[in-house]
Amino acid sequence: MELSGKIAVVTGGGSGIGAALAKRLIAEGAKGVVVADLNGENAEAVAKNLGDKALAVPCDVSDEQQIISLVERTESHFGPIDLFCSNAGVLTLDDPGWSAASAPNERWQLAWDVHVMAHVYAARACLPGMIERGSGSFLNTVSAAGLLNQIGGAPYSTTKHAALGFADSLAITHHDQGIRVSALCPQGVQTPMVESAAGMDDGGPAGMDGMLTADQVAESAIKGLIAGQFLILPHVEVADYIKHKAANYDRWLGGMRKLRRGYNFPEPTF
Ligand SMILES: NC(=O)c1ccc[n+]([C@@H]2O[C@H](COP(=O)([O-])OP(=O)(O)OC[C@H]3O[C@@H](n4cnc5c(N)ncnc54)[C@H](O)[C@@H]3O)[C@@H](O)[C@H]2O)c1
Repeated sequence: MELSGKIAVVTGGGSGIGAALAKRLIAEGAKGVVVADLNGENAEAVAKNLGDKALAVPCDVSDEQQIISLVERTESHFGPIDLFCSNAGVLTLDDPGWSAASAPNERWQLAWDVHVMAHVYAARACLPGMIERGSGSFLNTVSAAGLLNQIGGAPYSTTKHAALGFADSLAITHHDQGIRVSALCPQGVQTPMVESAAGMDDGGPAGMDGMLTADQVAESAIKGLIAGQFLILPHVEVADYIKHKAANYDRWLGGMRKLRRGYNFPEPTF
């Protein structure tokens, strides 16, 4: 897609990858970019830096009504949305003890609401107008964990797999109506998300191929959007990992167990 002159929304735009995406969209000549975040102060700071083509809107993406209001606010301020970037995310790990079922239900629900339902709400709010106009794009930030796994984070991995499944459905169902979908799937990225987690500042297993900066990920995302690519892999290694997984799933699981042991995750207990 051509980004110049377009109107975009970026959720989770107050920090990390979202802030880098908003900055990059403005640099590509976007007409307007809404920086939406649960943290309204961060959204405000990012938008202020970007000038009058950016607008901050506080928004909790896990609440459908707030997504509807975000879309209305964007459209009344800038006009119809060309690109909705569902990027907000929460690192939702297992509890210490690292059993795959140890995270409390509230954490599972949060991961489901932010990583999956928020994408559904955005599609539900934007699709009717986009279909009527015959064009519109979604960039959904998933993760390599949605293709592979996040060791030590069952709620994160599971809901990122679901996010990819929803992106597939959007792309299959609505392509012929002019809708384009991209799924951004990085491994480790140096952002407050990983910096805030104890012992994760090198990304843990997700950082084994090196941590990218948020700007590098935004650069890949923009290239992928312009090329009309569905799967955007800022870490090129991920393409090979998916091939290995598809070719021999049991062997791939064995490799992941070995990786888990290599990072000294203990014998899992509740
Ligand atoms: N950092 C990584 O290593 C990495 C790797 C792969 C994928 N991702 C994904 O990239 C996306 C961006 O993460 P990041 O690394 O930039 O982290 P980040 O913590 O820097 O940014 C996430 C932003 O999302 C916002 N947010 C959280 N819950 C929200 C909600 N309910 N409503 C609105 N905003 C909300 C936070 O306030 C924050 O500003 C996430 O979806 C994350 O899962 C990150």
